[in-house]
Amino acid sequence: MAIQNDPPRNIVLTGFMGVGKTTIGKRIAEFVQRRFTDSDDVIMARAGMTIPEIFAQHGEAYFRGLEREIALELATQERVVIATGGGMLVDEVNRAALSATGFVVCLDAPPDLIEERLKHGVGRPLAQNWRELYEKRRAAYQVIPVHIDVNGKTADQLAQEIIALWRTAST
Ligand code: S3P
Repeated sequence: MAIQNDPPRNIVLTGFMGVGKTTIGKRIAEFVQRRFTDSDDVIMARAGMTIPEIFAQHGEAYFRGLEREIALELATQERVVIATGGGMLVDEVNRAALSATGFVVCLDAPPDLIEERLKHGVGRPLAQNWRELYEKRRAAYQVIPVHIDVNGKTADQLAQEIIALWRTAST
């Protein structure tokens, strides 16, 4: 299918911290020539501080409030590729809003890969007790109809796989 016939529907990536949402999202955006947005970048710009600073100075509840605000705004856009922060679509309201205008894909990775990617903990205030958090969120991620296992695949392969699914789902 040619890019000019592509559906207006957004592509929305979710999944746990470290699964590669941002890297894969950027590649998708390049392939389909759409704008890329990372929800955490929008939150940081709005708050005027980094994610760890938001957590340290205002707490998680404040972060989740900002995250909700941004989710609802992003859901009003079209023709965008959105990489969400790992907690954004755990929230039912955010999930419903972004699913209404976007093709949502949940990326899955095995625990050892997540461990490897999170071990430095840089920029991720919730990385330390990630296993517990992962268990708590499992059911919320399972609600998302489309899942892709990232293990053993390159970002380009995953991007192409997601684009093919998005095109098929939207015809
Ligand atoms: C979070 C994931 C982070 C970021 C924040 C909280 C979460 O994004 O939004 O640190 O609750 O899972 P990434 O999934 O891009 O690391």
